[in-house]
Amino acid sequence: MHLETFIPAFLMFAVLGLVLPIILSDMAEKGRNYTVEPKAEPAASPASVYKQIGGEAAVNAAVDVFYRRVLADAYVNRFFAGVDMDKQAGKQKAFLTMVMGGPHNYTGKDMREGHKHLIRMGLNDSHFDHILMHLRATLAQLGVPENLIQTIIGVAESTRADVLDR
Ligand code: HEM
Repeated sequence: MHLETFIPAFLMFAVLGLVLPIILSDMAEKGRNYTVEPKAEPAASPASVYKQIGGEAAVNAAVDVFYRRVLADAYVNRFFAGVDMDKQAGKQKAFLTMVMGGPHNYTGKDMREGHKHLIRMGLNDSHFDHILMHLRATLAQLGVPENLIQTIIGVAESTRADVLDR
């Protein structure tokens, strides 16, 4: 038999047996580099935040402290002039409870409808940022761990486009 007949077969074995494993192991190595390293403190899932911060009592305390801060802030308190703050706090408690994975008792307006009239009063991103700042400070003051604060702020942040009607 001529040597030439072996050349294609030899090349095929060389590719399958030697080169392919090298390529595959290189790809696997690269793939490992793309996987996200688990964070030391995994982000809390919104569905569990309500329980983790302490349920109803914690939400009630947070909303009370939050509105005390907001009403003392001259940059945003004009938006709340004439608002029944007991009712407002009740709605906010129900809303936060719902978005943090607690019981669904929120019957208020959706965020776009609930804030539309405030846009006409000049509500913009800077006011929204102030409100988030008060929410963050409130949660920190109540000793809520940083990873839960981040999750809650993330949920609040996700309402920005609706609250600002864009
Ligand atoms: C973090 C984003 C926010 C959330 C989750 C939120 C949540 C709520 C909820 C649940 C209500 C009750 C809606 C209803 O009437 O049924 C409400 C109303 C209200 N919000 Fe917000 N809000 C946010 C941002 C803001 C901002 C940035 C302001 C102004 C600085 C604001 C001012 C008000 C006022 C004044 C009302 C009462 C309106 C009225 O009864 O006349 N909110 N909000």
